[in-house]
Amino acid sequence: PGVVKLAVIPGDGIGPEVIAEAEKVLDAATAGSGIRFEKTHFSLGATRFLETGDTLTDADLEAIRGHDAILLGAVGGVPGDPRLKDANIERGLLLKLRFELDHYVNLRPSKLYPGVPGPLAEPGDIDFVVVREGTEGPYVGNGGSIRRGTPHEVANETSVNTAYGIERVVRYAFDLAERRRKKLTLVHKTNVLVHAGGMWQRLVDEVASEHPDVAVDYLHVDAATIFLVTNPGRFDVIVTDNLFGDILTDLAGAVTGGIGLAASGNINPDGTFPSMFEPVHGSAPDIAGQQKADPTAAILSIALLLDHLGLQDEALAVTRAVEADIAGRGAASRPTAQIGDAIVDRVQA
Ligand code: NAD
Ligand code: IPM
Ligand code: MN
Repeated sequence: PGVVKLAVIPGDGIGPEVIAEAEKVLDAATAGSGIRFEKTHFSLGATRFLETGDTLTDADLEAIRGHDAILLGAVGGVPGDPRLKDANIERGLLLKLRFELDHYVNLRPSKLYPGVPGPLAEPGDIDFVVVREGTEGPYVGNGGSIRRGTPHEVANETSVNTAYGIERVVRYAFDLAERRRKKLTLVHKTNVLVHAGGMWQRLVDEVASEHPDVAVDYLHVDAATIFLVTNPGRFDVIVTDNLFGDILTDLAGAVTGGIGLAASGNINPDGTFPSMFEPVHGSAPDIAGQQKADPTAAILSIALLLDHLGLQDEALAVTRAVEADIAGRGAASRPTAQIGDAIVDRVQA
């Protein structure tokens, strides 16, 4: 008690830059709390692969499993880099962690903070959470190809959907809606993906009957992208499949002021395995190493981490500090470390 074992995976590109700031804020927010974060840094990602040929060894996984929580920056190189083809860092590292640690809830809140210059002329109040399924769908890697390189090449990716997997994430989403504005939207593509979509709809209807005070509606994913831009205020909790959730949350990030602000948690609600907190964005090779990245998404991921660990006061202190920093942001951009330092100052104030 009083000690939290935190695995830190800075990763590639802007990952280490934004994680350095997130760690500063974590240290500041927990300084007087009596809780000590015992951090272990793991060198994982494209950089490690190019140096050693390892993506995620069994020993790495076991060591990470022994922690209470994980903080991750971003992993992956320049999309299409041929040297990384065999590594497939995204599958072999990031998805492997999410699957092995049973992160079945990928929690992605979207909030338009006062003062944020967003792309919408009249955004209204935006405050919703995407509950993205994290362990199934087209992400499981159940696919293959034959007749490679011939005109008759066949490539299949199978979307895997289980009643068990859907029901548990749907239940989480309803519980979350109960604690929020009691509105839940299922997003899928039931008009085309009739088997998986039909099961999602049926399970949502079943769980809905246990939550009579939650208003439930449904949108096809294409229509959902329209409303995310024209009327994002209509959403409270969105529950959706792994792939749709990936796409919707980059859009949600853009709509609420940029991907540099979007935080996420890969949650194992049962507490059997450590949950993992990370910005929604990737390693951004186009701006890496230049102190151009916005560390806010990584810092808000610290707030999600603290909240998950039951440290609500500390989480709130981080969120408040970020809100204040955002409210005071002008048009001028600041280096990554300067944003981190400004937020640390506000946490300490
Ligand atoms: P990306 O999110 O890295 O970048 C998309 C755009 O957003 C770029 O223009 C980038 O400069 C900008 N951006 C991202 N984060 C920013 C920040 N904090 N501040 C300011 N601008 C920011 O997506 P991508 O280019 O498709 O992917 C790059 C690499 O990252 C790929 O290898 C991809 O697979 C990987 N990736 C990893 C994760 C992860 O580790 N969780 C998530 C997404 C992508
Ligand atoms: C994300 C990323 C990952 C995903 C990739 C890198 C595997 O885009 O965290 O949103 O698709 O989940
Ligand atoms: Mn994504």
